[in-house]
Amino acid sequence: MKNSQTLQVGLGDRSYPIFIADGVMAEIGADLATRDIATRYAVISDDQVAALYGSTLMRSLEKAGLQAELITFPHGEASKNLQLFADLCSKLAQIGLDRKCGLIALGGGVTGDLTGFLAATYQRGIPFVQVPTTLLAQVDSSVGGKTGVDIPEGKNLVGAFYQPKAVYIDTAVLLTLPRTELLGGLGEVIKYGVIRDPDFFVFLEREIDTILGLQPPVIQKMIHHCCRIKAEVVAADEREADLRRILNFGHTIGHAVEAASDFSIIHGHAVAIGMVAALRLAVADGLCKKQDAGRVAALINAYGLPTEIPAELDRIRIKGYLKIDKKSIGGRVAYVLPTGIGEVLITDEVSEAQVDAVLNRLG
Ligand code: NAD
Ligand code: GLY
Repeated sequence: MKNSQTLQVGLGDRSYPIFIADGVMAEIGADLATRDIATRYAVISDDQVAALYGSTLMRSLEKAGLQAELITFPHGEASKNLQLFADLCSKLAQIGLDRKCGLIALGGGVTGDLTGFLAATYQRGIPFVQVPTTLLAQVDSSVGGKTGVDIPEGKNLVGAFYQPKAVYIDTAVLLTLPRTELLGGLGEVIKYGVIRDPDFFVFLEREIDTILGLQPPVIQKMIHHCCRIKAEVVAADEREADLRRILNFGHTIGHAVEAASDFSIIHGHAVAIGMVAALRLAVADGLCKKQDAGRVAALINAYGLPTEIPAELDRIRIKGYLKIDKKSIGGRVAYVLPTGIGEVLITDEVSEAQVDAVLNRLG
């Protein structure tokens, strides 16, 4: 695709391209028309994103001769549920979408996860394309094929691994993203530097002002780095048997903090707190130098993200959520702990006393 940075997620005959460019939204139709994916699409989007970008995408599809309908749902995590999933299945059937058709997810991680799960299951699987519009979705959720919905017992407990056919990342859409959502995405961006790439970490330290100022070339470079790391990890371990678990750095305590705050602390901010907590566990265990942990906490802070669990959050509730963490195996909670900047190990040998010490210190 013209003027875009391109990379590939290498999964054999399920490999797919990721295109990153400022303004790519208007080019999607022309590019899709050259690919043998589908001739008719349903674009799924939340109401807010549809109001901002629905018409640009629909025009681009129509101009390229692709038939498309826009289907919207109320924005927010509360929509990522089985009832809305069922309603959307009915809607697809009512408009006569068949196995030759495809879906396009236009939106953040909620839209991507929901649409991906619809694509994985509607008529036993139809193709889909990701057009992520939050930073979190651009650097993380649109790549790698994790799809699904929440149930009352927990987030993402029903879903499927199902890869998209292409990912189109338009960095211009970040200009309308609320600041708190942008910062949340930056939490996931910092994660990549800590788990896998010390040079990228230095880049993030150097470019704080340009990144927070959303300067296009730097933002594109940053997103490209993150997608490259995610693509490498997913290609090596698509179903999270081993290596992919490193992407959960900061998520163990992070998820528990998010849930204990009744989701008033949004995901990326909770992950930032969880990363600092994991670093403190690593320092206490002698795995990581205090100086490295300090550097990560300083970077998180410089990007305007929290590093401490708010004092008012109930530690007992946090520990309760840790015990039912989806990533725990045989009742033992798994932690991703840095051994330095750019390297992590995964261990379930963290004692309750160590966790208590970190939870209480943070308060
Ligand atoms: P989201 O999809 O709810 O988007 C956040 C808000 O931003 C919404 O209100 C949306 O309407 C608005 N928005 C989106 N793009 C916008 C834009 N360009 N301008 C203005 N407003 C915009 O949330 P999210 O943070 O993108 O995603 C969170 C979800 O992603 C969670 O459900 C989480 O479980 C999931 N997730 C999935 C994976 C994965 O690998 N599949 C990874 C991480 C997170
Ligand atoms: N967001 C974690 C993963 O895709 O594995």
